[in-house]
Amino acid sequence: MKIPSVAAKDLLTVTDLTRQEMLEIFKFSAKLKKETLAGKRHKFLEGLTLAMIFEKSSTRTRVSFETGIFQLGGYALFLSKGDIQLARGETVADTARVLSGYVDGIMVRAYEHGTLIDLARTATVPVINGLTDLYHPCQALTDYFTIYERDPAFPRIKLTYVGDGNNMAHSLLLCGAILGADVAIASPKEYTCDRSIIERAFSIASSTGSRIDITTNIDQAVAGAQYLYTDVWVSMGQEKGAAKRKKALSRYTITMPLLNKAAPGCRVMHCLPAHRGEEITDEVLASNRSIVFEQAENRLHLQKGLMCAFMSKHKLFKK
Ligand code: CP
Ligand code: NVA
Repeated sequence: MKIPSVAAKDLLTVTDLTRQEMLEIFKFSAKLKKETLAGKRHKFLEGLTLAMIFEKSSTRTRVSFETGIFQLGGYALFLSKGDIQLARGETVADTARVLSGYVDGIMVRAYEHGTLIDLARTATVPVINGLTDLYHPCQALTDYFTIYERDPAFPRIKLTYVGDGNNMAHSLLLCGAILGADVAIASPKEYTCDRSIIERAFSIASSTGSRIDITTNIDQAVAGAQYLYTDVWVSMGQEKGAAKRKKALSRYTITMPLLNKAAPGCRVMHCLPAHRGEEITDEVLASNRSIVFEQAENRLHLQKGLMCAFMSKHKLFKK
């Protein structure tokens, strides 16, 4: 099996990958998944170590990266921010330089995207974004991989995101634009996506043929959607303005009647964790239209593909 090659050193956002690179990573991850589930072991990252810095909580990201690198023959170090010298004022740049001397890759979940940029600038090993206030590239890539798996011909699809214009919405929007998918985002005006990210998506879409619709009109966005996506109304770090957010987003819930306005057979997606009764009803989440646990499981398989693509290149470079 040939490890996909990527030009970028780091994965800070989905725009660090081209459409071709994404599709190669999808193909490779699908094969890894199939063979792993059949009992085969792949030692592509034998002897390599991934440091995982977490400023915020995580279930899926932590466990899927840690298990993933173990399955590939490598080792993961879980570094909660509170347990390392970052919490006592050591700079991000110094941390990046020091860790680069020990490990072969760094995965970071940070509050501010700028922290990740600083770290990647100084680190000489690949840096992978495990979520920031602006982006969640590993999740969005997993989500389009989940769609790809259902039909590897990857026909043009429409994905509609309903809810807060947050890190998830940003990454789904940009990734869809790169892949040539149609993406609609329905959010209240005050909680729509970041202006510069919307502009970037439109600019990418003009060359890939993707159709983008950023609207406050839920029914307009949902019409014709084959995938309906949502995420929490209050992301980690936004707890302070929670009441105001919840009020503004109170209509932006995926319910059965809303799902029935989408394309027949439309599937429902959520990055999890979910807040049942807020952005999605229990009925929708538990229905056979929901593919949320497929997405969650695929974090493992897609990230194994990503780690191979980014970290094995570094291994060659080190030799
Ligand atoms: N979807 C996701 O990133 O989940 P965690 O916050 O549990 O890592
Ligand atoms: N938007 C959510 C995603 C969690 C995986 C957050 O940032 O908290």
